[in-house]
Amino acid sequence: MQTIRQLDLLRNGIADLRSDGSRIALVPTMGALHAGHIALIEAAKRPGTRVVASIFVNPKQFGPNEDLSRYPRKELADTRMLNEAGCDLLWMPPVEIMYPEGFATNVSVAGVSDGLDGAARPGHFDGVATVVTKLFNQVRPDLAYFGEKDFQQLAVIRRMVADLDMGIEIIGVPTQREDDGLALSSRNIYLDEAERAKAVALPRALGVAARAIQKGDDAEAALAVARESLIAAGFVIDYVELVDAETLGRPDAGRPRRLVAAARLGQTRLIDNLAVEPV
Ligand code: PAJ
Repeated sequence: MQTIRQLDLLRNGIADLRSDGSRIALVPTMGALHAGHIALIEAAKRPGTRVVASIFVNPKQFGPNEDLSRYPRKELADTRMLNEAGCDLLWMPPVEIMYPEGFATNVSVAGVSDGLDGAARPGHFDGVATVVTKLFNQVRPDLAYFGEKDFQQLAVIRRMVADLDMGIEIIGVPTQREDDGLALSSRNIYLDEAERAKAVALPRALGVAARAIQKGDDAEAALAVARESLIAAGFVIDYVELVDAETLGRPDAGRPRRLVAAARLGQTRLIDNLAVEPV
């Protein structure tokens, strides 16, 4: 696997990978890789496809009080994991390439970005949409892989690609979890032992609520039970909602729905979501 940090070398590297007719699949990340990220690489490894991963800790998607400066950076371990997973090329642009002096453009996806994490983290999805647009324009992939773990992010990217005719196939990969059900996340390392033990309440509460709604229980009542059990476990809730799986707006039982949640344990903010199928 080659690691590339300059745009002209990236263009050459991608042209080399395409020279046998291969398609290019991109897996964008912010590094500190774990089995959740590697599942995206594994999903992207298909016959006739070369896999490009990117690592860039994107300052534009962190709020002023968020964890940009302490976000974990593990270049050596990341490179090793990607290499072992069979990634063909690693794109690691320096911040001067992503945001040179005078950078003035913002990509903003209305509607789907507005609620949930968009409301809790103003500007976050503009930062994501802007950096993913840049990564798409730099790598020019045929396909790109995103985790369902960040469900709103996936919905924002799908909307953006459709609206701007980017012509890139977006593939969502199911959330990878620890044995007890906690979604894998680079931020789980911030949890101390006691918090880690409590964190399992998040996937459990969502699982109980998703099953109840699926079998026809009142959604508001099921959400209220989920919120109570999270508070009892020591979480401070940002949101626990049932939304339309595509628009993230008001749910309709005849369409795919998603149960989505964000909640904080101490300083650590966790998110998770589960599918609720149409009835
Ligand atoms: P990051 O948090 O590093 O995640 C990179 C990709 O891995 C995202 O698509 C995310 O949804 C996926 N992922 C993380 N944990 C996962 C899990 N447990 N199971 C499945 N997939 C998982 O998301 C970002 O970076 C950034 O916002 C980015 C898209 C790179 C733009 O900066």
